[in-house]
Parts: sequence; structure tokens; C-alpha cells
Amino acid sequence: MTDTNLAVIVLAAGQGTRMKSTLPKVLHPLAGVPIVGHVLATARELAPEHVVVVVRHERDAVAATVLELLPEAVIVDQDEIPGTGRAVEQAIAVLPKAFAGDVMIVSGDVPLLDAATLTGLLVAHRAGASAATLLSAIFQDATGYGRIVRTDDGAVHRIVEQRDATPEELEIHEVNSGSYIFHLEPLREQLAKVNTRNSQGEKYITDVIGLLCASGAEVTAVPVSENWIVGGINDRVQLAETAQRLNALIVRGWQLAGVTVRDTGSTWIDLQATIGEDVELLPGTMITGPTVIERGAIIGPDTSLDTCEVGEGATVRRTDATLAVIGAGASVGPFAYLRPGTYLGAKGKIGTFVETKNSTIGAGSKVPHLSYIGDTTVGEESNVGAGTITANYDGVNKHKTVVGSHVRSGSHNVFVAPVTIGDGAYTGAGTVVRKDVPPGALAINVAPQRNMTGWTLANRPGTAAAKAAAAADGEATDKA
Ligand code: UD1
Ligand code: MG
Repeated sequence: MTDTNLAVIVLAAGQGTRMKSTLPKVLHPLAGVPIVGHVLATARELAPEHVVVVVRHERDAVAATVLELLPEAVIVDQDEIPGTGRAVEQAIAVLPKAFAGDVMIVSGDVPLLDAATLTGLLVAHRAGASAATLLSAIFQDATGYGRIVRTDDGAVHRIVEQRDATPEELEIHEVNSGSYIFHLEPLREQLAKVNTRNSQGEKYITDVIGLLCASGAEVTAVPVSENWIVGGINDRVQLAETAQRLNALIVRGWQLAGVTVRDTGSTWIDLQATIGEDVELLPGTMITGPTVIERGAIIGPDTSLDTCEVGEGATVRRTDATLAVIGAGASVGPFAYLRPGTYLGAKGKIGTFVETKNSTIGAGSKVPHLSYIGDTTVGEESNVGAGTITANYDGVNKHKTVVGSHVRSGSHNVFVAPVTIGDGAYTGAGTVVRKDVPPGALAINVAPQRNMTGWTLANRPGTAAAKAAAAADGEATDKA
């Protein structure tokens, strides 16, 4: 049910300079979802009446992603006045006049902050009489964070940013997580008084805390249960740490849901993936995008599945697959490369050193060894010989190969598309199939073999090969 007394403001206008990236910081992916997407998902869980997202740096890209993930969000463009305080000031300006509830502020770069923690903060805020309630954390190393300065009797007094802090203030371990709940009116009133006289020349939201306390209002800081929950992402080191933390949570979730994970550290699973019971994930497995793995499949080791479907009981070993569908009981790899549009039927096989693209390989059909299969349809229960290449590209256009059902094609064939091999047909080893093969026919076009007796001895005398040939040939040895 919608909390009609709650507005959530997401701050996402900052430059993210420390990421040193052309991609806006909040759009960097984390478990397959942009950083800001995690924050929006949490905001949605709280079911607020309003969600306002403040953008500026790369505003078009950020706004587009935000609206795609949360269409009901209101986008606000921050003007040239910098700072988190200015961002909030502009965000509350778009709230309807009738709204008089609580304003929750979260950062677009703190993705692991969860709805349960924020609900706890909201409950504490609403139960007390504070004008503001903020989430704090006790960090051994507080570098980079705003410090919470308390009075001698322990009440919150103000927040000082790292760059503006005195040496004594830098010794404070309690930090500002950047998440707050304010009553709207006092927030609006105090924000109007915030100036930009600080080391960064920015309007800080954190200054509102000191101003509220100076006005006699009470501010409460509630420490978070575990510090990683409020970890912000400002650089690539924090991006990797956060990704690992989130992945550990996701992997654990699937383990508890009945998935065997041999090595949690080397198994990566995106948030959108779905994995059935009794699936086994071996070391070095990456499951990305909305991949679905059905019950009992065995994936890995060293396998990447991006946006794939894997059927019940299938085995996928040392494989790289994107936008591929693998049927129930099928076998893939080791060392297979399944490119977009690959469909492998139930109990089919794509074996060792095989590359497939835009191809359907029917139920029970096998491409076991050393092949390239592109723009091809293979029927059911066929066997494509070792080393088969579909020549699907004439240098200008791509063409289709059709292989029927119950076909047995020979080793080292080239299927020069467009070409059709009929049901139940055979092809000889080394055949270059340029013409359609009717059902049930055997196609051979390799030149007849000639053996030129004594060739090595005559043409390569004195070589090891000649000696070996001579030794094997009794007559030749007698003559020598
Ligand atoms: C901020 C807090 C700091 C806190 C830390 C927690 C301030 C002044 N400082 O510092 O006390 O310990 O978060 O992570 O608030 N943003 C805007 N507009 C701006 C500037 C920033 O929307 O003009 C957004 C950023 O995109 C980001 C968030 O606000 O999502 C925080 O900004 P950032 O520059 O990361 O602040 P910190 O230095 O981390
Ligand atoms: Mg930050």
C-alpha cells in the first residue's frame, strides 16, 4: 500500500569524478543492474507517494535509465549551484503543495542500502519527535565520509565533511551514511539558509543538520546494523568490493534455495537470473542477464551464460553462451561457443571446439567435434561429422543450410550455403557439399585417390621418411 506521507529523493546529479569513467557513475552495472537501479528498487519497496530523482551530469543517459526502471519517478534537473543541499532544495520544490509528510533522502551511489534498514529508520523517525533522523555508521577508517559531531551529552550537533574537518574532528569514527529522513517544513526552512562557504564551494545537505540543532530542534542518528549496508561507490575499488558483497548475498540466496555452488568466490550470478533446485554450479561460472537454468542442470567449470535458457538436467561445461537455448538433457562443451540464436534441442549435443550461431539443432542431434555451424537448421537425431564447417557467408550475404533428420554427414565436410541435405542422407568424409543432397542419398565429391608407389624414395632420397619407407618395404631394402 502506498505510504502517502512519504517522498523519497534520490541524489544522482554528481559527476562521479573518482570513477574516472565516460559512463556515469550511477549507471555502472552491479549484478546486471545499474547502481542507481538498486536504489530505485529499494525506493519502490517502500511504496512512497513520490520518488524524485535529481540529475545533472550526463542527465539524458541517467534520466532515461531511471525512467525505464521506475516510470513513475519524477526527474529534476539540478542547476549550476553544486552540492547535495542544492539537489534536495530543487527536489522538494517539485513536491505538490498538498504534500506535508516525511522526506527520505538517499544517494544514488549507495546500492546495498535495503528497504528493511530504511523502514527501520522511518519507524524510528515517526516514533520520535526529531526534526530529522539520519542513518550513521561507525567506521574504523572514516576517510571520505562526513563525521557526526555530538555534544558532550551525546546529542547530534552537526555534520562536518572530511575536507572541512579539524584534526580532532577527523578522529571521529561515527560517519554520515548520506541517508536521512526530514520533516518537510523544517527541511525547507533550513535549506534556505545553507550557503556554499566550504572547501568545495557547495551547498551541503549536511549543513541542515547543524542549522536544525542550532534552531533548537532535535536530530537523531541511528547507527546501521552492518557497515557494508551503507557503503557508497565512489571509485572502482569500492565498485569491486560492493559487487563481491552483493554477489555473495545472491549466491547464498540460491544455495538456500537448493542450488549447489562448489566455489562461492568464483561463481557470479546476476540479480535477474533464475536457477532451479539441484542445479550444480562448478567453479568459474558466470550467469548474467535474465538467464534461466532448470532443475538438475550442471553448469561449469569455467562457463559464462548470458541471457540463456538451460533445460532440466542439461550439462554445460567450459562454455561461452549468449542468447542461446539449451534443451533438457542436452550436453554442451567442453570448449563450446554458442552465439546468439542457438537453439539446441532436448538430448542434443554441441561438443568440443564447436561454434554455433543463429542455428537450430534438433532434438537428439549432435555436432560433437571441431565445427562451425551458422544460419543452419538441423532436424532430429542427425549426426554432423567432426570438423564440419557451414560456409554461410559468400562475402556479401549470409545463406542458410538445412540438414534434415537422421542425417549422417562425414568428417571434414563443408556445407556451402544455401544448401539442403535431405532426411536420412549420408555424405562422405571430406565432401564439399555444393548441391542439395536428396533424402537417402550418399553424396561424395572427393577426387579418387591415386597412390604413386615409391614416390618418397624417388623424390626425397636420404630423408628419414625415405629410410622409414625403405625399411617398411622389404623389396626396396634388398635392392639398396
Ligand atoms: C556525502 C555526504 C557525506 C556522507 C557521504 C556518504 C554531503 C555534503 N556529504 O559525501 O557527509 O558521509 O555522502 O556516502 O552530502 N549529488 C547530487 N548533486 C550534487 C552533488 C552530489 O545529486 O551537486 C549526489 C551524487 O550523485 C551522489 C550523492 O549526491 O549520489 C552524494 O554525493 P557525493 O559527491 O558522492 O558525496 P560524498 O562526498 O560521498
Ligand atoms: Mg558518495
